[in-house]
Amino acid sequence: MSIISWVLRFPPLQWATSTLNDALITALRQGPIPTHVAFVCDGNRRYAKTHGMETSEGHSQGFESLKKILEVCLQLNVKVVTVYAFSIENFKRPKWEVDALMDIAKSALAQLGAHGDLADRYGVSVRILGETSLVPPDVLLAIEKVTEQTKHNKKAILNVCFPYTSQSEITHAVRSIVSASTSPSTPIDPESITESTISSHLFTSDCPPLDLLVRTSGVTRMSDFMLWQTGAETMVKFIDCFWPEFDLWRFLPVLVEWQMRVKGVGSGMRKKQA
Ligand code: FPP
Ligand code: MG
Repeated sequence: MSIISWVLRFPPLQWATSTLNDALITALRQGPIPTHVAFVCDGNRRYAKTHGMETSEGHSQGFESLKKILEVCLQLNVKVVTVYAFSIENFKRPKWEVDALMDIAKSALAQLGAHGDLADRYGVSVRILGETSLVPPDVLLAIEKVTEQTKHNKKAILNVCFPYTSQSEITHAVRSIVSASTSPSTPIDPESITESTISSHLFTSDCPPLDLLVRTSGVTRMSDFMLWQTGAETMVKFIDCFWPEFDLWRFLPVLVEWQMRVKGVGSGMRKKQA
């Protein structure tokens, strides 16, 4: 534990930090709030390495960070949060690491769905998006349980992409469009397929457009995440800190930038420069 985190455990400082966080959230809520935010939670292993921890501890800290930032989003009244928790590509990692990630996911999902925890307190429906047939049976059970436990929650949605890639999601969408055609003798009319046909067959079909996508760790790639959903209006921000370090303070400038962009602040200046 760093000296700063140790000092921040001192009760009066904990109280001051939480009061300041509440004030920041209240201030942010005076402006527009993104409806749908996505996170690429990157940098857990590098965080573990730089802090002399086991890789699995870095991933566990990643889940702690996810819970905190999810709570911030819910307090801000963000309606949909989508997180890249496991890429299909991650199956290429060593078996011990994949097993550790599966174990963390299993307990993370059980925790999220537990009575009195985040999903319950904030009315969040937890959904798992991706190739769930690839996960071990015990994790699949945890997925089914959290989905069932939270399906009636209507205030917000947490999409956990696990195991996911956009290419796989779009492949699923195309297959489902083709299989929706009435019979082999009446093939689907290609002209009838529009952008909205594809959107309506994605895992995110009932979610609002993606307003903001944040990737931590300084890496500036999309890594096959939300490629269809990242449209012309989506603000994409690459942040130079590891995911377990990402918190309200690091999220704050991103949200302020998004608010200024939505309000058109600075657009006059951009026009003059053009
Ligand atoms: C990427 O960092 C992170 C992951 C592969 C795992 C992310 C998982 C969580 C945040 C928790 C999962 C939560 C639920 C609800 C299932 P990395 O391993 O690529 O680290 P590196 O970039 O430093 O190598
Ligand atoms: Mg990475």
